[in-house]
Amino acid sequence: MSTPLRIAVLASGRGSNFAALLAARERGELPVEFVLVASDKADAPVLQLAQGAGVPTTVLDPREYADRRAYDFALFDRIGASKPDLLVLAGFMRIIDGDALKPWAGRMINIHPSLLPKYRGLHTHRRALKAGDLEHGASVHFVTAELDGGPIIAQTTLPIEAGDDETTLATRLLPLEHQLLTAVVALLAANRLALVEQGIVFDHQPLRKPLRCVDGQLVR
Ligand code: GRF
Repeated sequence: MSTPLRIAVLASGRGSNFAALLAARERGELPVEFVLVASDKADAPVLQLAQGAGVPTTVLDPREYADRRAYDFALFDRIGASKPDLLVLAGFMRIIDGDALKPWAGRMINIHPSLLPKYRGLHTHRRALKAGDLEHGASVHFVTAELDGGPIIAQTTLPIEAGDDETTLATRLLPLEHQLLTAVVALLAANRLALVEQGIVFDHQPLRKPLRCVDGQLVR
């Protein structure tokens, strides 16, 4: 058997995406090892989740650093010390310095609650509703210096229903996000995805458009 993929998770909040990854691992569906959960918020619930599962945690408070760049280099130093193969941004609510993340190109993914390239940044549900969109969704992408702008690996979609508000939409999307992230991490753990200069390679073929997540399965 090959060695499990070593994953560090960066998160600022409740950690339901991390919990979904943990649960998939518990079910024997993800051959991964969580080597670290890092946060910028000492009171982030994701830290308790990690501690409960025996995963090491670390907190770096941005207020203790001169600027974003100094913070990010310190954070990535700390993360690098745990020797992860993959960094998963799961609700990490900070913009990261481009130079600090460069060494992790192709080894860092983010889950974003919109059908990128639509609605980078915050308030994605509100913006989709305001635009009168008929569908919404979430994306997992490789992280580059461009905010929510790296190559998109996979997306999940859901219809926007009459009467939806931000809360109902976010609530219906969340379990789909969990499936999406878990499925993408499973592909990475199986070595079926790579980022090369020309873009994403999936099963040795260029990925021309994002995979779609249907009932938890990723399809071309
Ligand atoms: C998710 O909606 C994710 O897409 C976004 O932040 C939220 C994090 O939720 N990037 P959780 O902390 O994983 O519950």
